Amino acid sequence: MKVYNFSAGPSMLSEDVKIEAQRDFLNYSNSGMSVTEMSHRSKQFEEIHNAGISLLRELMNISNNYAVLFLQGGASQQFDAVPLNLLKTGRADYIVTGNFASKAAQEAKKYGDISIAASSKNKNYNYIPDLDTIVFRENIDYVHITQNNTIFGTRYTSLPKTSAPLVTDASSMILSEELDVAKFGLIYAGAQKNIGPAGLTVVIVRKDLISTPMSICPTMLKYSIQEENNSLYNTPPCFCIYMAMLAFKQLKKMGGIQEIYKLNVRKADLLYDFIDNSAFYTNNVNKKDRSLMNVPFTTPSAELDASFVKEAANYGLVSLKGHRSVGGMRASIYNAMPIDGVEKLISFMKQFEIQNKSCH
Ligand SMILES: Cc1ncc(COP(=O)(O)O)c(C=O)c1O
Repeated sequence: MKVYNFSAGPSMLSEDVKIEAQRDFLNYSNSGMSVTEMSHRSKQFEEIHNAGISLLRELMNISNNYAVLFLQGGASQQFDAVPLNLLKTGRADYIVTGNFASKAAQEAKKYGDISIAASSKNKNYNYIPDLDTIVFRENIDYVHITQNNTIFGTRYTSLPKTSAPLVTDASSMILSEELDVAKFGLIYAGAQKNIGPAGLTVVIVRKDLISTPMSICPTMLKYSIQEENNSLYNTPPCFCIYMAMLAFKQLKKMGGIQEIYKLNVRKADLLYDFIDNSAFYTNNVNKKDRSLMNVPFTTPSAELDASFVKEAANYGLVSLKGHRSVGGMRASIYNAMPIDGVEKLISFMKQFEIQNKSCH
């Protein structure tokens, strides 16, 4: 049975990327070796690494005044690396729109004077605060946002107005829609949703912001050191970088972010329209803030939610259980989820509704 994986991360990868990686796994480009065995200082790996960086630059239209870094430690490590590198006056403002945003702010508080400029905690993070009414403090080093909230299914459709550098955790939305990189001081994202396997973290940072990290910043977390060494200060996650490079190549072949965005909107519209027209399923996220990537929904009861998740898995629709802080279900429909996966989910939802409508 064909399985569609709706996991929030690690998530589905493109079939074409997996086939290419499988084909070349034992003997990459006539080297007689797998990429997993190659020295990270070899010419072959250097080509893979640099191709990955230049494809990402091309896809996201990243200019030369930004460094593109391939790091480790997940997005969570960036919760520390960002303040350790960017705090100069020692002050930064955070908008808290979910668990990860809250964790990012908590970590930053270890290093400086961090203020929560706005939060949507009062409604269990089911909306993005009104950006026009937020007043940021004067003389801050940056403003931090979490652009797509994986657990709660919200997304920013516009950016806060600030003259301070804007830092975004783009883990669950990078490459799903166009970003104007010039509007950001720093963009970071764990790879395991829209890029490739877990183990790689992408950081795109304006070079003028990274020259004076805090003196306590560990060497490995210094963006300046990583930039000087082309992210090869130590052994990088070679295979993840290779897989990311294949995913970037595949996305370019598909027509780039503009094209995948259209598909992502189609997939999300199909699912939200179905939920909105049903008296059985609910998505309680503020409509204008709905995520294109993570769609939480519930049936009329927790018992039905549990049977939904179980029966859906038997039907080849896996990892639909919602996060414990929200409950219900969550369909993560990242770039690699084909439209047939969403159609199959909707057809299962219809069938489940018919079978269980009378039970509530
Ligand atoms: C928006 C967001 N930020 C941060 C993280 C944490 O990422 P990692 O597990 O790579 O540290 C996640 C993980 O799901 C996420 O969705």
